[in-house]
Amino acid sequence: MKILYNPQESIKENAARCGVTVYAVRKFIQRQGIDRRYDAQLQKYIAVQKLSKEKPSISLSEMARTLNLSINTVKKYLDPAQKPSKSNTLKVSKIDTNTRTGNINSVSNNQTEILSNILRLYVHSSTFDCDLTFSKGYFYKQIPLPQNRFDKYPESDDVLPLEQTSTLTDGCFKSVVVDLPFIVGKGKKESSMIGQRFSAFDTIDELYGANDNMLSLSFRILGPKGFLIMKTMDCFNAGKQQWISFYVQKKAAEIGFNLVDTFILISSTKLFTNQGLVQHHARKFHSYFFVFQKPLKQ
Ligand SMILES: C[S@@+](CC[C@H](N)C(=O)[O-])C[C@H]1O[C@@H](n2cnc3c(N)ncnc32)[C@H](O)[C@@H]1O
Repeated sequence: MKILYNPQESIKENAARCGVTVYAVRKFIQRQGIDRRYDAQLQKYIAVQKLSKEKPSISLSEMARTLNLSINTVKKYLDPAQKPSKSNTLKVSKIDTNTRTGNINSVSNNQTEILSNILRLYVHSSTFDCDLTFSKGYFYKQIPLPQNRFDKYPESDDVLPLEQTSTLTDGCFKSVVVDLPFIVGKGKKESSMIGQRFSAFDTIDELYGANDNMLSLSFRILGPKGFLIMKTMDCFNAGKQQWISFYVQKKAAEIGFNLVDTFILISSTKLFTNQGLVQHHARKFHSYFFVFQKPLKQ
């Protein structure tokens, strides 16, 4: 049965009106990432402001009685500076239409939005279990850090070397994140800004090999129905288009993963410049977040 959620009602009232269980409404709120706490505060603020405009001479105690609020709450919300602000930017308000709506789109220019939408739609948790290419953890500026953080070249003490994944038992995680470098070329590590920050591969074969390894490793450490979130990007190397995204999809399917969703991140910054060069191909301004799922049975 479809849930037509009303933020002004209690969870029980929503359940009764929609003819579903309280559990179903709670699950709906969790999946949609609805910020009920913020919505409740905002509702009180709006009610106080509205009543004070409608009846400018109304007393504090009358207001409190009419709105069924404490005098202190009324006092607080009469001050526009006390308008509640959303502390959790990843959750959505169903009252304040200026905040993000609950719609989840396949395209975004914000990777935090994509990652939090993947968490909401598929992982149903506040963060991922494991990141195999943690680097500096830019993914987790607004998302809690995964408990298990690895990298081939760890940049801090709380990130484990990738080799240590060999001690992990099969099927130990429900979600794994992979974001490999996409820069190729000898000397690129030193000369390119992105190469320095995120490391680069010496050859294109090394890049494809690393993708193979990470897909196989993720498949091993994910439990049945577990999710691999893999960020990838196509590139142009040595005069040839390298459709890495296509390769990753093909390889993942061979290994046994199902592709359950694709998100496209539109870059808001220039990654490469081709000033002065004749352009032969479209400049790549996007990358992908693939959501692969390990089947229940192999
Ligand atoms: C693009 S960065 C990841 C950025 C990260 N997602 C973040 O939020 O900061 C790629 C990471 O992959 C690691 N890496 C490089 N070569 C690798 C390889 N052959 N196998 C696995 N990881 C590799 C790098 O050390 C680097 O930290």
